[in-house]
Amino acid sequence: MSNLSSNRNIVLASLPSQLTALLAGERDFIANLSNTAGLLKQLCDYWWVGFYLVKDDELVLGPFQGPVACTRIGYGKGVCGTSWAGNKTMVVPDVHEFPGHIACNAESASEVVVPILKDGEVSMVMDIDSRVKDDFSSEEVAVLEEVARILQDHLYA
Ligand code: SME
Repeated sequence: MSNLSSNRNIVLASLPSQLTALLAGERDFIANLSNTAGLLKQLCDYWWVGFYLVKDDELVLGPFQGPVACTRIGYGKGVCGTSWAGNKTMVVPDVHEFPGHIACNAESASEVVVPILKDGEVSMVMDIDSRVKDDFSSEEVAVLEEVARILQDHLYA
């Protein structure tokens, strides 16, 4: 089901082209992750948007927008570590129902995590939290996966 406001639907349609324009001409890794998080937070008003980067055997917090968050997540742990281990998008309509969910912030209610690959291996995950339960429709998740692909292609071109 979808709880999208019509405003968010309009914004989502423009997100891929806005991100492409934002990244154009900039090669700096941190700058591009930071501005991608900023764009998603600003346009979609998510509660938390950010990146966890694969470093050795764990994920380490990267650029983000929102409340302070856990800094390290193990392989296969929580929603992010599960996305990493399975190389798959995770959509969690109710985080309290997800076994092993890592609650960085008590207000998060639903979550989407999309893996980003370098040379065929997960190099980071993009994590998005909402304070609204069941807040991500399949159409919205498809746009977020497109955002992750645009970013991935730009970062590792
Ligand atoms: N909930 C995530 C942890 C990261 S925070 O949501 C920012 C998880 O279970 O992996």
